[in-house]
Amino acid sequence: MIAAFAALSACAPQETAPLSGDALVARGDYLVNSVVLCGDCHTPMGPQGPDQTRRLQGGPNLTTPTIDIPWGDVVPSIAGTPAYYTEDQFIAFLQTGVRPDGTHPRPPMPPYRLNEDDARAVAAYIATLPRGGEEHTEDSH
Ligand code: HEC
Repeated sequence: MIAAFAALSACAPQETAPLSGDALVARGDYLVNSVVLCGDCHTPMGPQGPDQTRRLQGGPNLTTPTIDIPWGDVVPSIAGTPAYYTEDQFIAFLQTGVRPDGTHPRPPMPPYRLNEDDARAVAAYIATLPRGGEEHTEDSH
């Protein structure tokens, strides 16, 4: 009985070390492009659909609300880390949905509640993307 229990606990999931470097970026690439899909809104549309040469570089928000609520008309560029955020502020934003100044972005920006490891991976991947010409502007608040 004791032996069986010991064998079982040997199979229990072990604590794994947090990812870093290329593995962290690869995890973020998977999360951004296959799970949370930031690019559905933050990658500008080209003639053939989302322009992957300008990944997460922002543009006009082509969707409109079905009810009368405040709406983000411009999707900011977040490639290379969003303007006005430090990396730590960006990681906190991905865990809370709250901006560094305590306010919330307008819909349709979802209020993400990623766990810390996933937030770090998303931020690490986005930091590797080239920044575009579009910048976050005051009137997109
Ligand atoms: C459904 C569309 C949509 C998706 C999906 C989306 N966003 Fe957004 N995001 C927006 C819009 C629209 C705004 C602008 C909101 C405004 O103007 O108030 C925005 C704003 C932002 C901002 C700027 C916040 C600020 O301080 O003004 C950041 C950072 C951001 N998004 C990051 C992300 C990340 C990272 C992802 C994926 C994990 C993501 N977004 C997914 C639509 C989206």
